[in-house]
Amino acid sequence: MPIIINQEKTQFHLTNGKVSYIINKLKNGHLGHLYFGKALRIDEDYSHFQITDVPTGASCHTYVDDPAFSLETVKQEYPVYGTSDFREPALSIRQENGSHITDFKLVSYKVTSGKKELRELPSTFVNEEKEASTLELVLEDTILNAELTLIYTIFEEHSIITRSAKLKNNSDQAFSIERMMSASIDFPTKDLIMTQLSGTWARERHIHKRKLEPGIQAISSLRGASSHHHNPFMSLQTMDATEHQGEVYGFNLVYSGNFLAQVEVDHYEQSRVSVGIHPTRFEWNLSKDEVYESPEVVMTYSDQGLNGMSQSFHKFYQEHLIAPYWRNRNRPILINNWEATYFDFNEEKLVSFAKRAKELGIELFVLDDGWFGQRNDDTTSLGDWGEDRSKLPEGLESLSAKVRETGLEFGLWFEPEMVSPNSELNREYPDWAIGTPGRERSYGRNQFVLDFTRKEIVDYIYEKMSDIIERTQLSYIKWDMNRNITEAYSRGLAVHQQDEFFHRYLLGVYDLYKRLTTNYPHVLFESCAGGGGRFDPGMFRYAPQAWASDDTDAMERLKIQYGSSLVYPLYSIGSHVSAVPNHQTLRSTPLETRANVAYFGTFGYELNPQELSQEEEDMVKAQISNYKTYRHLIRTGEFYRLQSPFESNETAWMVVSQDRSEALVGWYKVLATPNNRKEQTVRLKGLIENASYQIEGLNRPYYGDELMNRGIPLTTEFNGVNASKAERGGDFQSNVYYLKIEK
Ligand code: DGJ
Repeated sequence: MPIIINQEKTQFHLTNGKVSYIINKLKNGHLGHLYFGKALRIDEDYSHFQITDVPTGASCHTYVDDPAFSLETVKQEYPVYGTSDFREPALSIRQENGSHITDFKLVSYKVTSGKKELRELPSTFVNEEKEASTLELVLEDTILNAELTLIYTIFEEHSIITRSAKLKNNSDQAFSIERMMSASIDFPTKDLIMTQLSGTWARERHIHKRKLEPGIQAISSLRGASSHHHNPFMSLQTMDATEHQGEVYGFNLVYSGNFLAQVEVDHYEQSRVSVGIHPTRFEWNLSKDEVYESPEVVMTYSDQGLNGMSQSFHKFYQEHLIAPYWRNRNRPILINNWEATYFDFNEEKLVSFAKRAKELGIELFVLDDGWFGQRNDDTTSLGDWGEDRSKLPEGLESLSAKVRETGLEFGLWFEPEMVSPNSELNREYPDWAIGTPGRERSYGRNQFVLDFTRKEIVDYIYEKMSDIIERTQLSYIKWDMNRNITEAYSRGLAVHQQDEFFHRYLLGVYDLYKRLTTNYPHVLFESCAGGGGRFDPGMFRYAPQAWASDDTDAMERLKIQYGSSLVYPLYSIGSHVSAVPNHQTLRSTPLETRANVAYFGTFGYELNPQELSQEEEDMVKAQISNYKTYRHLIRTGEFYRLQSPFESNETAWMVVSQDRSEALVGWYKVLATPNNRKEQTVRLKGLIENASYQIEGLNRPYYGDELMNRGIPLTTEFNGVNASKAERGGDFQSNVYYLKIEK
């Protein structure tokens, strides 16, 4: 049993041989945090992990005769503010008398096999009960008459612990939750480096690192979406940790809205990690018998650097987050018409586009924005989910049938949460768009956001989408979301509930996703928010893949995909080959390089297949056939980052099959370097040392130890004198190597 309880000392040790997490009951009945890290042997007692001797008189303390017991210094599991701890709390509750003081004491606990999913929020799950054990710690505040449950799950096969919290009001007096973190952990040191994934539209999830300093360091979103700007992920690593060595702690919030991930370093150099819904514009009113549940945090510990952390997240999400229907299925190679046509298409054009795509080996045709209402640009028709007969005179059924006759599956774009001011929907229901009565609304891409806190609106959109799914025998939906929420207010909520708005909005989004994916499990959803503006585990629970960025430039994509891979599995990263000059950067990169980057994701095309030259067509056919050979590796393999685009002109990464018999390596160089006589190799990872690997395109086999210690030899680069021998030349060069063990 991976949860060991010392009843006498009231200590709880979650361990599975990979990770240990230890909690105890403090002298005052609150919960103390003793340890999170590499698995420890089972010891009788870990009380000595809590050091309580502080300089007498330096802190406020709980007991008159014990100045050493101070909440200011003791490591806690779910701290509150105002009773001698002056740091940012996990929980804050405003009571009817205006007080915020609470006193939750441990009253009971329960260990069960398996794990329950959260009621209304996306969360990780077990496939069989034996895969995990769950500890519930129940605390009570007897004055408030409320029950707080902290829920921890440890998984047998993963260096992962999940956490969430639940609060129930048992009294007749209502109260308001003002802040309720999903996890809080007090680390005993500040000697840690924080890594975050930050950026903006078209530059999502770039890696940023900083050394912890006294005070608060945080990332957050207040946009109503997890955002392009900061991903709901944070890691802390020891000062000596690197990509492949050393200790790393990762935190990822399973939530798609406003969040906060912060570390507060105090005056004794302890670091408090807090992860959860952002307390700004958050409040939740609880009346008698009502329960509020926080989102879940996935926490991982790695002693093999950042790459070890990533492999833990990847494997865990493949098995315990992404819908089981898609786990063992290859997903179709798609072509999307967006960058090829934008709003300018008709049935004839699309069908000939699809026929051509089929000849290339593509498997799914996706019709993007512009098929509904009278949408010839982005100023109109969102919400009018009926086909535009001027473009599709015979309707969507006819288009879908014709596409499917070519042998391709049919997919469609929706932006379910939005309404254009200029739309039938807005004219009929002008109060469905979010806005504060009596005030102007701000614009974003000429559109407003529908009030998804209101069930009748979610129901209406569900009916529209399910009708189209059935009419067109849809295989795929790209669910877009192109603006953030402003003037947040719902006409469906009481005055005192207006700060529940942002969370209730997300509950509406999840409800729609859940209904659609439950009733149409075979429809593949790809989430999108103006590219990667909602690229988070909350979305991945329903949509196994997400459009990583509107930036399809291969060089930009190196950073975006490399950054995304810190947390998210390759097979969740939507990546396409697009035309050049690239529409976001106007850069022209070789077609080979564009595919070599896109292979390390879900793979597809975003260009007009009718505009390819004969040479390009042959290349595209070969690329598609290659991906069909590789894609089981992308879906199930282990990913290794080898060289970072954030640190040099070159990038390298690879994916290795679980049995180490096959691998795919990608190597990329942004700018050519003149007079370069450097021995060019890339050192690989994860192979079997004494196995001999055949590498496609190279004329001799290599042993695993040679490839890992000396490296794979790169093809010769043009360096100013060797034009006749060079296999590569110019900027934006790349190579992909497919390795297979020799029988
Ligand atoms: C933003 C998406 O990220 C694009 O791929 C495309 O679908 C457009 N929206 C359509 O409006």
